[in-house]
Amino acid sequence: MEHAGKYKSFPAMDYPQRRWPSQQITKAPVWCSVDLRDGNQALVEPMTVEEKRKLFDLLYDLGFREIEVGFPAASATEREFLRMLAESGVPDDVYIQVLLQCRDEQIDATFDAIRGLPHVIMHIYNPTSVLQREVVFGKSKEEILEIPVRAVRKIRELEASFDGELVLEYSPESFSGTEPEYALEVCNAVLAEWKPCEGRRAIINLPETVELNTPNVYADQVEWVSDRLWFRDYVTVSVHTHNDRGTGIASTELALLAGAERVEGTLFGNGERTGNMDVLTLGYNLYAAGIDPGLKLDNINAIMEAYEELVKMPVSPRHPYAGRFAFTAFSGGHQDAISKGFAAMAKDPSGEWKVPYLLIDPADIGRTYETVVRINAQSGKGGVAYVLKDYYGFHLPKEMHKEFGARVQRMAETLGGELTREDIFGLFRSEYLERKSPLHFLRCSIDDRTDTEDEYTTHAHLAYTYDGREDELDCYGNGPIDAVKKGLQEKLGLNIRILDYSEHALNSGSEAQAAAYVRMQDVTTGRTTYGVGISSNITRASIRAMFCAVNRLSGGV
Ligand code: KIV
Ligand code: ZN
Repeated sequence: MEHAGKYKSFPAMDYPQRRWPSQQITKAPVWCSVDLRDGNQALVEPMTVEEKRKLFDLLYDLGFREIEVGFPAASATEREFLRMLAESGVPDDVYIQVLLQCRDEQIDATFDAIRGLPHVIMHIYNPTSVLQREVVFGKSKEEILEIPVRAVRKIRELEASFDGELVLEYSPESFSGTEPEYALEVCNAVLAEWKPCEGRRAIINLPETVELNTPNVYADQVEWVSDRLWFRDYVTVSVHTHNDRGTGIASTELALLAGAERVEGTLFGNGERTGNMDVLTLGYNLYAAGIDPGLKLDNINAIMEAYEELVKMPVSPRHPYAGRFAFTAFSGGHQDAISKGFAAMAKDPSGEWKVPYLLIDPADIGRTYETVVRINAQSGKGGVAYVLKDYYGFHLPKEMHKEFGARVQRMAETLGGELTREDIFGLFRSEYLERKSPLHFLRCSIDDRTDTEDEYTTHAHLAYTYDGREDELDCYGNGPIDAVKKGLQEKLGLNIRILDYSEHALNSGSEAQAAAYVRMQDVTTGRTTYGVGISSNITRASIRAMFCAVNRLSGGV
């Protein structure tokens, strides 16, 4: 893709004194949700008043105490919604933010709409960027600066008519495309007109209306302006980033390092074009760094359900923290590492999170470990072994991971999708525990003779069916496995060898069962397989495992 001079990046600042690269975020910002304005205006089907009320209540319950509810001077629904809030009453600790342009008639209409609210943030804005000044307005810097200053003057004239607390917010819209010196001049002119002081707050919001450069450039702009604002003790520096370059979160995080104290954004990053900064992701990022986000984020599924119902847009399965796949691992190596991480955590009293590939514990945000492992054709044996061990108690011997893992992959390829743990266990049952043909074990009695002079110390009497016909067999050997092996060799004309044997308890208590694993080789063909048996009696479990292995060798493994 070539273009001769069509694009160039917005210039970086010559600002070697920058401090933000060596800062750390240590506390949560003041949060402001713009879901009901920036988010709503970006919907094909905007929310109804009832839906807005539900979303407002959700935002309040999540802990937002500054909520921008709309543009009452420009939209009848937003005015109606605002009046409904004022008349039905809002909690006393919430600041209702309203957006308006710097026009007299909008200021009058907005004052009329906010009557009765206890705390209001009046958010005025005008575009200040080079591009907007030149292409959209054709106005000089002086003329653009006069616009918000006049608006603040008018707000001051009317503020006595409002009974509640009034906070002024000013946004030099398209700030990141504005020369920082000029943006500072406009902001300071606004502040000089508002005269913030104790009990008279101002918010200077520095929007990245369209992302124009890498987040470090935005951070430089924010730090440089924030350091030079007048009345700084009474001014909250706020940021409002969009996601055109896909770095809205990064821009906000670097801006927090650069001194921003407040952030505006939306749930799941809804908003104009590619959206606003996602407040939930930022909140979870803080949480993952050990910082209390100051929002109630412990049930991501409930937030997502409410959001999808009201906004009528799906959350991507790959969305950070919230997406269906956020806590899944398809790759075998990852599954194995996750399984080891959980095992290590179970033994570590510190409680520190140490599970590779999972940034946070899914349980902290209302997700379960059930969704942690999903198996598909690319998954390896580690994930399969993890599922059988953690959900069903079977500790497959290491060599068997390969054998059964390959079988699971064949199934995943055939079905062409991901397998659930029930699918995996179903396959394990049919391949091993229920592999009862042609040989089906019925009963056995074992007679161990330690005082004998005979060649063999064990006599096993077996009852079984072969292709449905019942039969009995007396076998002799040293130990039950050896005796049964010899008996089956003789009776069925097999040439088999036992390569490995292991067993473990499956559960505890009076109903305790044991699982036995036998690795058997058909010496004639060289083929090997595992057989698995379970029983409340370990000898029966091992004989079942041998029958299973013989069946698998005779029927194809
Ligand atoms: O993106 C933007 O610049 C805005 C302003 C109104 C703050 O939404
Ligand atoms: Zn915006």
